[in-house]
Amino acid sequence: MGVDGLVRTDYCGNIRTSDIDNEVTLFGWVQNWRDHGGVIFIDLKDREGIVQIVFDPSVNEKNHKQASKLRSQYCIGIKGRVRHRPEGTVNPNLKTGEVEVVVDELKVFSQSDILPFPVEEYVNVNEEIRLKYRYLDLRKPRMQKNIITRYKGAFAVRKYLDSQGFIDIETPILTKSTPEGARDFLVPSRLSQGKFYALPQSPQLFKQLLMVSGFDRYYQITKCFRDEDLRADRQPEFTQIDLEMSFVAEDDVMAVTEGIIESIFKETLGIDVKPPFKRIKYQEAMDRFGSDKPDMRFSLELKNLTDIAKTADFKVFNSVANSGGLVYGLNATGCINFSRKEIDDLTNLVAIYGAKGLAWIKVKENELQSPIVKFFGREQMDSILKALNAKPGDLLFFVADKPKVVYDALGALRLEIAKRLKLTDKNEYNFVWVTDFPLFEWSDEENRFEAMHHPFTSPIAEDLEYLESDPAKVRARAYDITLNGVEIGGGSIRIHRSDVQERMFRALNIKDEEAKAKFGFLIEALKFGAPPHGGIALGLDRIMTLILKEESIRDVIAFPKTQKGVCMLTDAPNDVDVKQLNELSLKVLKKKTEK
Ligand code: AMO
Ligand code: AMP
Repeated sequence: MGVDGLVRTDYCGNIRTSDIDNEVTLFGWVQNWRDHGGVIFIDLKDREGIVQIVFDPSVNEKNHKQASKLRSQYCIGIKGRVRHRPEGTVNPNLKTGEVEVVVDELKVFSQSDILPFPVEEYVNVNEEIRLKYRYLDLRKPRMQKNIITRYKGAFAVRKYLDSQGFIDIETPILTKSTPEGARDFLVPSRLSQGKFYALPQSPQLFKQLLMVSGFDRYYQITKCFRDEDLRADRQPEFTQIDLEMSFVAEDDVMAVTEGIIESIFKETLGIDVKPPFKRIKYQEAMDRFGSDKPDMRFSLELKNLTDIAKTADFKVFNSVANSGGLVYGLNATGCINFSRKEIDDLTNLVAIYGAKGLAWIKVKENELQSPIVKFFGREQMDSILKALNAKPGDLLFFVADKPKVVYDALGALRLEIAKRLKLTDKNEYNFVWVTDFPLFEWSDEENRFEAMHHPFTSPIAEDLEYLESDPAKVRARAYDITLNGVEIGGGSIRIHRSDVQERMFRALNIKDEEAKAKFGFLIEALKFGAPPHGGIALGLDRIMTLILKEESIRDVIAFPKTQKGVCMLTDAPNDVDVKQLNELSLKVLKKKTEK
């Protein structure tokens, strides 16, 4: 057992005053090396923390000599006796700060080259270098905490779901395309030349099939793969807490989800979140916050001014208002001192979302300062001020455009203003369910309706009759859960009747043959006694990012990829041998050059 006769008795970070006088055997990495008048002090570190170890030449001459050759990040094992630190050397900031270990025996297992960056504490290092040496980056206390906390979160989920009668079932990774709105990662088949597997964007279809099989309550904590443009909260492979239940309605899935969240927060942060969480309907979320993942930690609500704008002399507003567009305002309370430059910056921000301009009014004690007031009559202006609850000192913003642009632009402006006014509290965990999504959203690009969630989501029964005649009107039995303005999960009650599923595919303009080729197995399965069912998937990486208050999802994943989808450590993706390509009957055409 152990190594070279040493068997660990404890972790470095766990030694306490209760261990005083005990002999301990510890393994770890040399952190700080200090020589105080001939006595050598080293911080020995393992995953649980650090403990001070002492090499005293008057106790052990040979060890002391060996210790003088130790350098940062050497991997060693020691046997020694725990004692109280001498008066005046106690470190109250350290859990092990009252004790130290006087070393009797030292074994050096590995030396270490000089590290490319320090791993002792948080030092700002270029992320690409961190990722190239991720195994060293992961030695940092902060990263160790992140990875261990993530494990605790996932374990809490397993314990909770097990207690609720859920069964963990694995589903295939080499599979067929499951549409979740992203591009598939494809894997060429050698045995079926010219054919491809797709990596799953989610286990969606398999979990529905498991309901048909009668497993009733399924869960899995599993990798999903999506070839999409990456952002701070997205990775090409990420982890879902995925579940599905039979014989349930929305409330049942939501209650289980709240139980999951409750256990994660309890086990990782020791915080009691208090379900049931707030619920808001999609349309109300858009109207009030310009977003289907509203950050409701602060108010700053949007106001619909379209009716007032219809009669205004301001052509920009009335033409939009009278042609099916929207005019919305936002009161940036107390922001009257924003400079011209700041307003220009905000105008550039809304332009990203397609807004053609950003009108504004500064509300002073006895006058309004604005490029647009001249276009409004007294009464009109009064109704605008009233609608926005404007007071002296406020700065009002307006966007007129088609609905999507107005919501996106003012939704983003709202978040930016909250950031500038420091309205968000990172220690608050504000959960909101968003319900009553539209079943479809129009895609200009595809020139057809697309499923807003996915094509297996059930319409609300009373809207079913509009599936063909007025798809835009049909609401979905779908729900998202958001935390502080981040979508951390989404799910729905599914279609469990094959005829409805077929109608759904037709409404999406998917031809019967295509539906059969792609999803024939699902339609068929729904003909063999499929139970009513529904479920949800939570983004584990996103939840952990919020719990750990990290900026980037990459900081809660052991081996993440860069924004370009590259693994800096292994250099994936990489070129492959011509031999491998030949086996697959594949040939790489001239590579598309980067834009
Ligand atoms: P959806 O596509 O909404 O639903 O995904 C569920 C949750 O997964 C997380 N997520 C991601 N996290 C990191 N990187 C990504 N690229 C990424 N994409 C999604 C989000 C999201 O809320 N099958 C359905 C679920 C269901 O209907 O049961 C699904 O996959 O937090
Ligand atoms: P203009 O008359 O074009 O100079 O515009 C007057 C003000 O209206 C400027 O502050 C513009 O930024 C703003 N503006 C122009 N188009 C829009 C729009 N679609 N929505 C909101 N404000 C706009």
